[in-house]
Formats: sequence, structure tokens, C-alpha cells
Amino acid sequence: MKVLVVGGGGREHALCWKLKHSDSVSEVICAPGNPGIARDARCVPVGAEDIDALIELARAEQPGLVVVGPEVPLVLGLGDKLRAEGFAVYGPDQAAAELEGSKSFCKALMAEAGVPTARFETHTDPDAAEALIRAWGAPIVVKASGLAAGKGVIVAQDVEEAVHAARDMLSGNSFGEAGSQVVIEEYLLGEEASCLFLVSGDTILPLASSQDHKALLDGDKGPNTGGMGAYSPAPCVTPEVADEVLETIARPTIAALAMRGIEFIGTLYAGIMLTDAGPKTLEFNVRFGDPECQPLMSRLKSDLGEVLLAAAEKRLQGINLDWDERKALCVVVASDGYPGSFEKGQTIGGLDAMEAAGAYVFHAGTAEKDGVIVNSGGRVLGVTALGNNVSEAQKAVYGALKHLHWPGGFYRRDIGYRAIVREDAGEEN
Ligand code: AMP
Ligand code: GLY
Repeated sequence: MKVLVVGGGGREHALCWKLKHSDSVSEVICAPGNPGIARDARCVPVGAEDIDALIELARAEQPGLVVVGPEVPLVLGLGDKLRAEGFAVYGPDQAAAELEGSKSFCKALMAEAGVPTARFETHTDPDAAEALIRAWGAPIVVKASGLAAGKGVIVAQDVEEAVHAARDMLSGNSFGEAGSQVVIEEYLLGEEASCLFLVSGDTILPLASSQDHKALLDGDKGPNTGGMGAYSPAPCVTPEVADEVLETIARPTIAALAMRGIEFIGTLYAGIMLTDAGPKTLEFNVRFGDPECQPLMSRLKSDLGEVLLAAAEKRLQGINLDWDERKALCVVVASDGYPGSFEKGQTIGGLDAMEAAGAYVFHAGTAEKDGVIVNSGGRVLGVTALGNNVSEAQKAVYGALKHLHWPGGFYRRDIGYRAIVREDAGEEN
């Protein structure tokens, strides 16, 4: 089977790499891909958000399966359009993608379905938003309702910061149209985990657990990013927690969509806070996490092409996933300045040496210039390795990173620390 993957980041590299190693897959095409993906797939220069050109590409290539990596094309309706042309698609239709595309839709659906989540209100009027923030007090969370690449959430420690964030969003200064509606939420305390599910109609198949580090700096300090590193499994997701998330969060959400006549085919990603009162939903995404996908694909032993095709064709029931018992950890290397502005086109050296040292280097924001690899995005590489425990996987990744030669890049030095604390305390799952 020929598979077309849409996207060009680290997540899509991990998907292409795994698909290339799937017996059911004869060829992987990626639009637009990147120089790292080009090792595992045939890259075609069609942008992941150019819906018309992607349809043309599918017509020309006639893939047996299309896997849509990022959220933007899903929110723009790529899934609907490809399905209307008869293609098997892994990734939800536009209506279901609203779970990620609109936090206000998502929160309203959760409230309707009784899914545990933070208390919230949605506002478009700055004065009303300010009044609510002052009434609830800090800490408090302000979220742009629309898509903001993981950066539209302000966890404010004081009221003035929250008021400023809400006013800035509602005035259109930050996040443009995505901030024209804000969700104001109660602050939840706990450890976070990512619980992903392959969903096909009413069949919901949990993936292994994972955990990412969204904050920019060591110790989970600094602004939120798309994710600076991840590992799988997440020791805090015990089998009991996983079951509770499936039964109280994933199932009722998919059922509430079905009640509205919306079918979900694709990845449901539940961002969870493990609070004293049990798991609560921070957000839903409608795609694999990035960088969670990198460790997940590193551990998946099943034939990814077969599994995603079964989901696309609503034959997921009865399928089991087979995982490597080892742990996988991914450290993201980003451009200095990310998540703000940064200089592009800097040469990155040491890529082969990192792989010779035992890591796999997934490419995210890279480009090729005069035969050398340069940075072209904020998050640039996802250096990933397996180990018998998270501590070993972490050592393998940081050992490999010693070979990186890129003065204009940076990475966190503590990815996996929470899991390692638990390992050291003998609390493994
Ligand atoms: P989201 O995109 O909604 O998952 O938010 C991004 C990050 O902000 C999450 O991963 C959390 O670290 C943090 N966050 C979001 N909502 C809350 C909340 N209600 N309480 C505490 N932290 C939150
Ligand atoms: N790593 C967080 C996300 O993919 O949204």
C-alpha cells in the first residue's frame, strides 16, 4: 500500500519512519516533508495547509491511505474533502476537529458530557473577562479559544497578568482571530500526562501513555511551547488511571460527539492533569502529539500502516497494539529565541554522529541549503533513544547530544526528570 502523510514536522517524521518499516506499506509519500523525512519517504513540495493542492496530489498519487499529521489541515476540512473523493483517511473531519480548533466548543462539549475538566467561562467582552478574573482570583488560566500552536495558554500567577493576557487576546494583539474569544479557567494542580487514543467510530484503542514538557526551560519554568521533550510510558499513568481516563474522558467525549451526529476517525489526544480529585482534561487535540509521537513510534511494534488503515476503514475492533517494553525519550532541540523570533539558515552539524552514538534524530524545522542541513523552524530536531528505564534512555539521548554542533540551538537538560524521580523511588509501572 502507498501511504500519503501530510505534514513536515517531527511528528510526521516519526510517522513516516514507522510507516516505512510497516510490512503493509510499499511506499511513503510526504507533503511537504523535510530533509530528515526524505530519508524515509518521497517528499513532495505541497504545503500541509494547501488543501486544494493536497487533493490534487492525492488524485495524482492514488494512495491507499492518507494520514494527516497536523491540526490545521484537519480544522480546514481536509479529512472531509479527501473522504468525499473516496480516499481512506486517518484524521477526523472538520466538525470533529473543532475539539481542538475551538476551546470554547470543546469545553461546552465536556460540560454537556460530564467529562471532568476545570471550571470555566467563555468570554468575548474584555470587561466581563476582567470582572470574572477579579472575582475568581489567581492563579488562573487564560486561553485563546482558537488555534495558537500550543502557545495560546497563559497560566497567570497574579490577577493583573491574567487581566492583561485576556485584554491582549481580545483586542486581537496576540493570536489574532484565535484570541477573539477567551476561555478563563480555574487553575488545576497536579502532574500532567498525555493519553492518546486511536478512535474509529465507537471503537477506542488506547495508545501507550506519554508525558511531555511544555514549558521552555528546565524545571518546567518559562513560557509554554509546543513541547520541549517527551517520553513514554509515563509512570504516573498507572493502569487504573489509564482506565479512568478511557471511561470518564475519552468514551463520553466520543459519545457526546456522536450524539451531535459527529463521527471521529483519528487520534484523540487528551491532555490530562492528575489532580487530587482524579484525572481532569486540560485540552483535547485531534492528532498525535508532537513530540509525544516520537517516543510512541519508537516503541510501537505493530504494523502502523495496517492499524491506521483499519481505523480509517472502521475495522479497528479487535486490534491490539504491541509495544516495546523499553522506555523511549525524546529531547527537542530548538532555535535560540523560540517560542519568539529566531534566525533561520544556521548550519547544524553532528547529525550523523548523534545517530552513530545510538539516538535517532527526527527532523522537525530543518531545511537543506547548499547540501547542508540548516534550521528553518522553532523546534528543529527530536533526538530520541530507547533504554531499559527512563534514566537509561535519558542518558543515551544526552550522550548523543554531546555530538551536536549548533551554537544557535538549545535544549532542556532535564527531560524525563519526573519519571526518573519515580523510578529512583521504585515506583515503576
Ligand atoms: P492546553 O493547551 O489547554 O493543554 O494548555 C497548555 C498547558 O497549560 C497545559 O499543558 C498545562 O501545563 C497548562 N494548563 C492549561 N490549563 C490549565 C489549568 N486549568 N490549570 C493549570 N495549568 C493549565
Ligand atoms: N506536545 C503537545 C502537543 O502536541 O500538543
